[in-house]
Amino acid sequence: MSDRNAKSPERKSRYTKDRGIPGAFEGETITRRRFMTGTAVAAGGIATAAFALPALGFALGPIFERTEPSRWQDIGPEEDFSDNDYVPRVINIVPEVGEAGRTTIYVRRYNPRIDGDANSDQPYVAISNRCMHLGCPVRYVSASQRFICPCHGGVYDFQGKVFGGPPVRPLDRFYTRVRNGRVEVGDRFSLNSKLERFSPRDPSNHLDGLWQYLYPSRPTI
Ligand code: FES
Repeated sequence: MSDRNAKSPERKSRYTKDRGIPGAFEGETITRRRFMTGTAVAAGGIATAAFALPALGFALGPIFERTEPSRWQDIGPEEDFSDNDYVPRVINIVPEVGEAGRTTIYVRRYNPRIDGDANSDQPYVAISNRCMHLGCPVRYVSASQRFICPCHGGVYDFQGKVFGGPPVRPLDRFYTRVRNGRVEVGDRFSLNSKLERFSPRDPSNHLDGLWQYLYPSRPTI
């Protein structure tokens, strides 16, 4: 049986003065110390978020990026290409600007003896001519099997890896596929020094180690 005569617990006053808090003022419901502490914690949280959220965005952004190229361009029949030397082709990477969007790429067939496992899902190697130092157009020299940049002496080896000079990472590539015996080229992608694939970055953006998190992807470049 419940005790009807039991007293209900006394409710605490919401005013700091009634609760006997030292230094309380008449009519205050929160002490100034607590108010200042709350304000400082909130400001600290906002400052931390200002640094942490962009970094988190860069780190997690690639997970949500589309990896399948949106557009494919025909660059010729399979017979035009070998697996031991590059053939130049011109594609349009910004169709909206017409002729100005055209660029040269260097194409060869994927060769497991040279390429190993790196990007073995790509039937062809289609290398961009944009230097990864400041973006000058590089030229492939067949005699030395090197890509040479005329601007500041950047040199890339046969796979497009940096061989010498100031470039910070291998030459970008384009996705490739074969349809009805013809080679097609898709969107651009970037690579780190191990030829691991990344969404496109600007020239001079490093992609090794922690650097990969400091540079945002720019799929439209
Ligand atoms: S732009 Fe190619 S080495 Fe500087």
